[in-house]
Amino acid sequence: MTAAVAEKLDPRIKYPSYKSLDEFIDVDRLQSLDSYVTERIQQRLSQQKDLQFYTGPFTIAEKAPDKPGSKMIYLSQPKGEDNYYDLDNPAAWEPAEGATEFSELMEFIATLPFKATARMLIMYDPEGRAVTAHRDHVSYDLCHEFIWFRTNLRKPFYMLNEETGEKRYVESHSAWFDSVNQFHGGDATGCVECKPRIIGGPYTETTLARPLAS
Ligand SMILES: [Fe+2]
Repeated sequence: MTAAVAEKLDPRIKYPSYKSLDEFIDVDRLQSLDSYVTERIQQRLSQQKDLQFYTGPFTIAEKAPDKPGSKMIYLSQPKGEDNYYDLDNPAAWEPAEGATEFSELMEFIATLPFKATARMLIMYDPEGRAVTAHRDHVSYDLCHEFIWFRTNLRKPFYMLNEETGEKRYVESHSAWFDSVNQFHGGDATGCVECKPRIIGGPYTETTLARPLAS
């Protein structure tokens, strides 16, 4: 995928980049949920009912796997048809079965200073395979509001500037990143990953400002 990025980017914006949101969340409490979330994911493995993660068609190499192995557990579900562009629209989502199963995670989410939530899901891979670098979509001026967060730091997750080949690994437990004008992906590991995405809230002004490289 070699399509150009948006033409009118603020010249101060550099890729790869991300914005840590750790200063706004209770990282200790998030870390304390690691075994809770991992145990429940392991219980689900035998049921094999979780949906497979699809990177979308915008991967870094055409032959790279677009279903690299990650699975998804929805904590909220679309009220009607699943429209990807509604992922940060609270009105389009309602609680899913997973919200009951992962109730302690939901209690943590409730402590986050959001006005509302929309799509929420956990991503994991029991075999810790790499996640192909990809863009989420190619509507270059549309950057969804979301928080990506994780209960542990075991899975290397990176942003990638396709022009320069520069990679930047996320060092924080939480982040917002431009998922459109740069690639992002994960290296292989052996661990279960937890990656719920939480949408909305008073971070609006922050998250709408695309991150500047630091
Ligand atoms: Fe993505």
